[in-house]
Amino acid sequence: MELAHLPFSQACENNKQPILDIIAPRLNQPLNLLEVGTGTGQHAVFFANQLPHIYWQASDQVINLNHINARIKHANLVNLPTAIALDVSQQWPKQIYDVIYSANTLHIMSRQLVEAFFIGVGQVTQINSQVFIYGPFNYQGQFTSESNANFEQWLKQHNPLSGIRDIEWILALAKAQQLTLINDFSMPANNRLLHFIKR
Ligand SMILES: C[S@@+](CC[C@H](N)C(=O)[O-])C[C@H]1O[C@@H](n2cnc3c(N)ncnc32)[C@H](O)[C@@H]1O
Repeated sequence: MELAHLPFSQACENNKQPILDIIAPRLNQPLNLLEVGTGTGQHAVFFANQLPHIYWQASDQVINLNHINARIKHANLVNLPTAIALDVSQQWPKQIYDVIYSANTLHIMSRQLVEAFFIGVGQVTQINSQVFIYGPFNYQGQFTSESNANFEQWLKQHNPLSGIRDIEWILALAKAQQLTLINDFSMPANNRLLHFIKR
């Protein structure tokens, strides 16, 4: 598969540098990272290239693996192995990761899948593991912008089970897995980058 023909996300191109600016100083030593819902693989390739001391394990639903792995193969980075199959509602890897990273996934998944996501994250993390979650969230039941309110309508048209999640619910699910919110970074385009550490 030629690179130019692979699925491409402009959002990834726009948000990768702002995300790197936040995660790079917090991932400044050799660490094993699992990315959930890798999507096009643009983040995986960019971050693995910029952070060569991070072993970046991409994952996604089986249906996405061919194109992700074509991009990964093209990148040819020693710290970016073949992406693995991971549906958050199924079996999670048996191994423990130092870091979990997931971007723009929780508003795509149903509420049931978001719950499964946090249970899975709990299984594959240990004390001091870090978790980064990027995406839009609602605060006190409110959209943070008109564009997010419009985005919600667009999401619901594609899948009624999708939707921008309440930060309070996300924090409760995280807390149940001993994940403490360390920072809630404001990001471009009305997104947030949540940083948790397991205590
Ligand atoms: C909007 S895309 C985001 C992709 C990428 N992380 C990005 O920032 O562009 C949502 C991703 O969530 C993944 N996803 C949806 N349901 C999932 C599930 N049950 N288990 C794992 N990943 C899932 C999709 O396959 C897709 O890659």
